Amino acid sequence: MKSRKIARSKSAKPVVRGKTPIVRSSRKATPKMEKETIRLTVNGQPHELKIGNKPNEIDPSHTLAHTLRETLGLTGTKVSCDDGACGCCTVLMDDKAVLSCMMLTVECDGKEITTIEGLKDPKTEKLDPLQQAFIDLTAFQCGFCTPGILMSAKALLQENPSPTEEDVKEALSGNFCRCISHYQVVKAVIAASRVGR
Ligand code: FES
Ligand code: FES
Repeated sequence: MKSRKIARSKSAKPVVRGKTPIVRSSRKATPKMEKETIRLTVNGQPHELKIGNKPNEIDPSHTLAHTLRETLGLTGTKVSCDDGACGCCTVLMDDKAVLSCMMLTVECDGKEITTIEGLKDPKTEKLDPLQQAFIDLTAFQCGFCTPGILMSAKALLQENPSPTEEDVKEALSGNFCRCISHYQVVKAVIAASRVGR
């Protein structure tokens, strides 16, 4: 079985939870900045963001999760532990699942980010098959963990369109659900993978 990574930082030390290697960031070490702006594409929209410490500027200590929620207003990405432990803040960066609470925004210059708000079809506004399967199979309760789980599942299906149950469990092993919706989640991801096959 292939193990998957949710990336935290390139400069990080790996730690292991279950079979999934994860990477712990040195996020607290704020880098020295030479650039004045950074460019991000978020859900297909380009953004040029000024680095600084005024309101609406990107402080070098801001995480990607903070920028998405507080600067860009994309509050679908949730922050729970804010420490790389729960997976709630997972987004896609260049199609890979990353923990946005563990990435500094200034390290994301030039990256393409997809958040839960960008998962539906941008032209038809139709829900992604994963979102529809989660609704159809009631694969959530309070829903707080759901955006992160959906983004991890999206990364999985992009890489492996026909996962086994074990593949799904492995891919989502870094996403915790306090409402214990995991069984329905696995069923929903498998159901979504069958759409269009
Ligand atoms: S909020 Fe990022 S991993 Fe928990
Ligand atoms: S549905 Fe409530 S935390 Fe997962």
